[in-house]
Amino acid sequence: MKENIYSEVYIQGLFNRMSSSYERVNYLSSFGFSLRWRKQFLKPIHLTAENAQIIDLMTGMGETWTAIHRTFPKAKLTALDFSEGMLQYAQTKNKKKFNAQVEVTLQNVLSNDLPSDFYDGVTCAFGLKTLNEEQIQILAQQVKRILKPGGQFSFIEVSEPNSVILKFLYSFYLSKIIPLLGKMLFGGVREYKMLWEYTNRFKNAKQVEATFQAVGLKTTYQSYFFGCATGVYGEK
Ligand SMILES: C[S@@+](CC[C@H](N)C(=O)[O-])C[C@H]1O[C@@H](n2cnc3c(N)ncnc32)[C@H](O)[C@@H]1O
Repeated sequence: MKENIYSEVYIQGLFNRMSSSYERVNYLSSFGFSLRWRKQFLKPIHLTAENAQIIDLMTGMGETWTAIHRTFPKAKLTALDFSEGMLQYAQTKNKKKFNAQVEVTLQNVLSNDLPSDFYDGVTCAFGLKTLNEEQIQILAQQVKRILKPGGQFSFIEVSEPNSVILKFLYSFYLSKIIPLLGKMLFGGVREYKMLWEYTNRFKNAKQVEATFQAVGLKTTYQSYFFGCATGVYGEK
């Protein structure tokens, strides 16, 4: 029987196995761009409330927390992910660097128990690619549900660039070099090949934007560095 690569069990397993190496490979796989993108994708969010509530969805090991904290120093941050492996590292970071101030929750964003009309900001970096269309639809409804009226969101994901040359180089790098690096440095070639498979299927955030808009969110599509990453931001 063919595996369902969008099932909860499959994706949890993938990230649990990658958790010891993910941060380093992620940095390498974007030539360090991921750090810059994490700052850039937060820029459209303007929070006015004192002690605004932000949730970082599919937070991984908290790679975006530093950027969130620098951009919104007074905000209260909650972080959600369903991989225990990734969250173990996130919790260590939480204690070491964030004074254990980040509220970390282990759950599936698609069937969560988060409060409705609660968050001023929803952020998510590089979590979209492992969701299929139906799951993006559920995600859009959940983002709408948990945001306060007027609350803002921003999502970003690695994408297929527009230019043919860049597309070729990027594909080669992500599909061949990164799995090799993953194998040489961390022993996990298959997992990193799968990340490429998801990116290849995802293409860009256009469909995500359309889906977010269809549930009634105000949306803007955003491209980063010639389409090597794309995203959507907006407001409820
Ligand atoms: C590629 S990592 C991104 C991590 C981090 N946000 C970053 O910026 O690098 C994707 C994360 O999303 C999590 N994830 C995927 N689907 C999820 C879901 N349905 N519910 C909760 N977490 C999910 C995975 O466990 C993984 O940690």
